[in-house]
Amino acid sequence: MPASKINQQVVLARRPDGAPRVDDFAVIESPLPALADGEVLIENLFVSLDAGFRKWMDEGSGDHILPAMAIGAPVMGLTLGRVAESRHPDFHIGQHLMARLAWERYSITDATDFLVVVPDEYDCPLNWHLGILGDTGMSAYFGLTDVARPQPGETAVISAAGGAVGSVAGQIARIYGARAVGIASGADKCQRLIDELGYDAAVDRLADDLPGALADACPDGIDVYFDSVSGPLLEVVLDQINPGARIALCGAVAAYNSATPLPGPANLFQLVTNQATMTGFMTHLMHERYPEARRQLLDWVEQGKLVNREHMLKGIESVPTAFCDLFAGRNFGKTIVALG
Ligand SMILES: NC(=O)c1ccc[n+]([C@@H]2O[C@H](COP(=O)([O-])OP(=O)(O)OC[C@H]3O[C@@H](n4cnc5c(N)ncnc54)[C@H](OP(=O)(O)O)[C@@H]3O)[C@@H](O)[C@H]2O)c1
Repeated sequence: MPASKINQQVVLARRPDGAPRVDDFAVIESPLPALADGEVLIENLFVSLDAGFRKWMDEGSGDHILPAMAIGAPVMGLTLGRVAESRHPDFHIGQHLMARLAWERYSITDATDFLVVVPDEYDCPLNWHLGILGDTGMSAYFGLTDVARPQPGETAVISAAGGAVGSVAGQIARIYGARAVGIASGADKCQRLIDELGYDAAVDRLADDLPGALADACPDGIDVYFDSVSGPLLEVVLDQINPGARIALCGAVAAYNSATPLPGPANLFQLVTNQATMTGFMTHLMHERYPEARRQLLDWVEQGKLVNREHMLKGIESVPTAFCDLFAGRNFGKTIVALG
């Protein structure tokens, strides 16, 4: 790769105020430096858009996973790319890597970033390793298989049900024999949950009487709640749980845009009286079990029990739009931008 190669990067133009907007970001071009010893050049083929990265765009939001993103610096996210050049002994040209790197056409890394070699033994499109076989599909799998454990005949409620995690979680709950009830925004999306993902019922989270709509959709109460949203919605669900309910805490989309912490549910005592559990989980810490999960998810796809849905955009200039789509509920399935 010649040193004069031009990179394209999405940078943080200013800190989002609430929900991110396309003009919070800018696409810039800069020359790509030559590789140093120990470095790898990755040509990014796909960018994965993940709602959780919104919180590192706030001032002072850094933690043990990532520092707060800086104004003018490339926006961090998850990417899938191909090794274009390597001066690192562990990587060779042509390998596919999934990595926590920036939204950019090319990345140079010394491999101290979060990097995973994408296995080539699975017969599926490469981009599935960012979605149904990536962290979001894995979250649905581990959150249900290990944490919530839906049983035949139980009612499992899934929030952000048409999103990357939720679109897989609802289908897995049904595979385990539960009745799956999805929560999403808008009548059209709710209908798609039923028609395209096989949900047994759907609830519009923007409904005037949300508790009533949820109760109508869950006449036998709620045994499992797969929560990607947190906030006031969690409180509504807690009021309708059954004895022994299991709540899997996957994420908190409702809180990511808020400058101040959202108030916690006022009804946590429901957990006490129902002897219910609420358990958080982090999928990337289960990395050694990804092969098991990938095999199982692909088996279900091959058996026709699981469908993959993607919200796919094209070109680096589409990355900000794709990210904003997550917070406007415009996505259905895993949101990805193809760069190639
Ligand atoms: N624990 C883990 O290891 C792990 C790993 C990956 C992802 N996650 C979490 O899983 C969740 C889903 O992530 P994703 O990146 O795959 O996003 P996604 O589900 O594809 O998209 C986000 C969805 O959230 C809903 N939403 C947006 N703003 C909302 C608000 N203010 N209140 C309620 N709902 C809102 C929208 O759906 P509707 O408008 O249709 O409701 C949107 O489609 C996130 O919380 C993420 O952090 C956790």
